[in-house]
Amino acid sequence: MEAPSSAQADRAWSELLAAIGRMPLPGGSFRHIDPKHPDALRIAPGAPPESRELLSLYLPLCRGGASGAEWLVGHLGQSLNGCIATHAGESCFVTGPENIAHLHRMRALCDAVLVGAGTVQKDDPRLTTRLVPGPNPLRVVLDSRRRLGTDYRVFRDGAAPTLLCTVQGPYDRHGQAEVMGVPPQTANLSQMDLGGLLALLRRRGLRRLFIEGGGVAVSRFLAAGLLTRLQVTIAPVIIGEGTPGLRLPRLDRLEAAVRPPARQFRMGADVLFDLDLAGVHATTGQPAS
Ligand SMILES: NC(=O)c1ccc[n+]([C@@H]2O[C@H](COP(=O)([O-])OP(=O)(O)OC[C@H]3O[C@@H](n4cnc5c(N)ncnc54)[C@H](OP(=O)(O)O)[C@@H]3O)[C@@H](O)[C@H]2O)c1
Repeated sequence: MEAPSSAQADRAWSELLAAIGRMPLPGGSFRHIDPKHPDALRIAPGAPPESRELLSLYLPLCRGGASGAEWLVGHLGQSLNGCIATHAGESCFVTGPENIAHLHRMRALCDAVLVGAGTVQKDDPRLTTRLVPGPNPLRVVLDSRRRLGTDYRVFRDGAAPTLLCTVQGPYDRHGQAEVMGVPPQTANLSQMDLGGLLALLRRRGLRRLFIEGGGVAVSRFLAAGLLTRLQVTIAPVIIGEGTPGLRLPRLDRLEAAVRPPARQFRMGADVLFDLDLAGVHATTGQPAS
């Protein structure tokens, strides 16, 4: 698959990577980002619409430059009936090429991309930035019970380092991947404690985290009130009964549902909803503690 591109948006993307110290700027000076505001990162007054759209999506994650705020963003690409894959687990591709390019950009902006064991098992993803300029992040696989074998690409292709997180020893290497033991939840010893996981990742200098699926992984972080933003891309496709995206506790009353501040971005035929969860606990509608 090739990423759809426009010269203006490609240039804006390169400037953004340069502004946050992830890549050198190829030739010339900033034209799409206002150099008068290097910390606040603003769109230059004369920037064309394609680059404005791209920058307005990513700038909130990049403010503060290389030492900017920590974030934990989850993404799911789903059908109109809320499925991220067929019942057999086929998900390549629910959303279109513009959204896939977006996932590669998110990988380039984060320190680590996280996926659940189910995603590795069904998709055997590479989790690299091969469709866009930008560095590969650390690949983190969440496999509490250490059920995955070593034959998946993330454990053997060497394209980027991989960290397997588990509560189940032994903690020796897993193919080419490093294995990190995570403390279990006190209420469920076979599940990892997500706060403990994040503390361990932070200790390794990993501060900007992107959870790329699947539904279980994103839902657990959302239910724990740990996501800074949730991105859900909706494709105009109807899948029969399939793999659900978000799985959350039931609510009886609609007034208890949370409607976080949301922005929308067109991605080809799809629409991405970018929800700002800072300050709100999405499963309860209560302010985050
Ligand atoms: N459309 C999309 O955006 C998208 C993205 C990714 C994947 N997919 C599709 O979604 C399907 C996989 O999704 P899924 O929801 O079934 O599985 P998943 O979230 O990828 O993985 C679920 C498993 O991973 C482990 N895990 C996940 N999060 C964890 C956490 N926070 N802490 C500890 N362990 C965690 C658990 O393993 P244990 O039960 O062993 O503890 C859990 O059962 C595949 O069909 C894939 O193709 C779609």
